[in-house]
Amino acid sequence: MKKITLLIALIYFNSHAQQANVNPTGLVVTKAMVVSAREEASKIGSDIMKKGGNAFDAMVGTELALAVAFPFAGNIGGGGFMVYRKANGEVGSLDYREKAPLAATKDMFLDNDGNVIKGKSTETALAIGVPGTIAGVFAVHKKYGTMPISKILEPVIALAERGVVVTKKQEKSLSDYHDKIVKVNGETSLLSGNFKENDTIKYPALAKTLRRIQKKGRNEFYKGETAKILVDYLQKKGGIITLQDLAKYEAKWRKPLQFTYKDLKITSMSPPSSGGICLAQILKMLEPYDLAKMGHNSSDAIQVIVEAERRAYADRSYFLGDPDFVKIPIKELLAEDYLRNRMASFNPEKATLSSEIKEGEIKYAESTETTHYSIVDQFGNAIAATTTLNDGYGSKYYCDELGFFLNNEMDDFSAKPGSPNMFGLVGNEANSIAPQKRMLSSMTPTIVEKDGKLFMVVGTPGGSTIITSVLQTILNVYEYNLSMQEAVNAPRFHHQWLPDLINFEPNTFEIKTIDKLKAKNYLINEKPTPIIGKVDAILVLPDKKLEGGADFRGDDTAVGF
Ligand code: DON
Repeated sequence: MKKITLLIALIYFNSHAQQANVNPTGLVVTKAMVVSAREEASKIGSDIMKKGGNAFDAMVGTELALAVAFPFAGNIGGGGFMVYRKANGEVGSLDYREKAPLAATKDMFLDNDGNVIKGKSTETALAIGVPGTIAGVFAVHKKYGTMPISKILEPVIALAERGVVVTKKQEKSLSDYHDKIVKVNGETSLLSGNFKENDTIKYPALAKTLRRIQKKGRNEFYKGETAKILVDYLQKKGGIITLQDLAKYEAKWRKPLQFTYKDLKITSMSPPSSGGICLAQILKMLEPYDLAKMGHNSSDAIQVIVEAERRAYADRSYFLGDPDFVKIPIKELLAEDYLRNRMASFNPEKATLSSEIKEGEIKYAESTETTHYSIVDQFGNAIAATTTLNDGYGSKYYCDELGFFLNNEMDDFSAKPGSPNMFGLVGNEANSIAPQKRMLSSMTPTIVEKDGKLFMVVGTPGGSTIITSVLQTILNVYEYNLSMQEAVNAPRFHHQWLPDLINFEPNTFEIKTIDKLKAKNYLINEKPTPIIGKVDAILVLPDKKLEGGADFRGDDTAVGF
């Protein structure tokens, strides 16, 4: 008996202590690291820590440096979420998500017949939510920052003045979006140009805006000259954001969502992001299955993961929204019995069609384009932050006087129950539009602990695919023994309940794997699909060094020391 117990313990230990034997393939450093969408931003964050700043100081620098170096998604005209774990194990999270303006109405994107007007929630000035990023970084700095804000902002402003070199991938993205940017802003707007790789783009207007914020603080953006210029600009464009909207905006500290998966303890974002709850539901539904034995990206593993994803996204669509406005049955949605029951209809021989799945029965009292960065500092503090304008370059509205793009986050609301948004996500009453409400998000900045110690910091852009990309990255390391960089590189797949299709990254999965799934009635998206996620993560190695996982799908880079 003793022998058997020992054997079981050994097998268990072997399959879950694999990280000890895995050779890192990403950048390895000993003390501190930032992994973000642009080298310039990672370096600014890393240099702040080198000068003695902590991860929170570095967060402020990295977030704002991304607004300069990565206008595709980095922003001061958008919002985001940040999850942290301090060296002493204390965790928390900040919601700096955009809000619906006071003048927003439930039916603002519908015509007289109650149908969604195409493009209204994505391409007009009404698509813009009240930005939260500046409130976010100042809230972080006030609570945990150690370096003066003026010092943190200096290299960011210098970068905007000096300019940023266009990469090959950025050349493509600016050219892909060129016509849309010109349509909204005209030919003379800063990013309306035809930029080529190695060109340098200078951002003098953004530098000036940041300089005013550096001098006058947070309120410059929400109540000062910047606020006035912004509101004038928006009103000329047909927007409804007022000075009162800006003045009322506050970032909110929220209790993050914590749950376990086997011997991992996971901390992720709670509503108004759906990220933490969906990730928890999927992992909890997967817990009873031996994914490692099924094999990495095998048809069996894909099948069970897809079935868990389908069920979690159906719940997302029905139950989730801004917790300040709707009551969310979090405890019930995460109850072990409920999730076991949810998977009871799983049949290994045959796909469960999404038409057979709806939200679970719960009784409770009624009452392409984002960016993620991960930071670990030399003191052991960790930060996962995901920030967005929603679509690439947001609404495309670029305020030339202030030097930044505005989001089109209003599209993350459910304009009409059951009507899909730009990510094909359907929502319900819980995520309907109301003044001051925050739109539901999928952003999933996540921190993983093992044996009570920091293990991984992870997150990604990718709209609805954010949750499933974070999920696969964690599984790739924990179940499949991949190094941090390999886990980020590995091909990904995605299912979100509706539409009832599995998306695979193009040309990455074996035909025979896909054929096996088709034979079980799985519906596969055969159209060319975009990349799934762009993960930036950090893994703490057994010798306490840090391995970066910077996604090759973008210009993402790890920098550290
Ligand atoms: O909050 C959300 O879930 C979306 N606004 C995220 C958008 C996004 O990730 C686009 N990136 N590809």
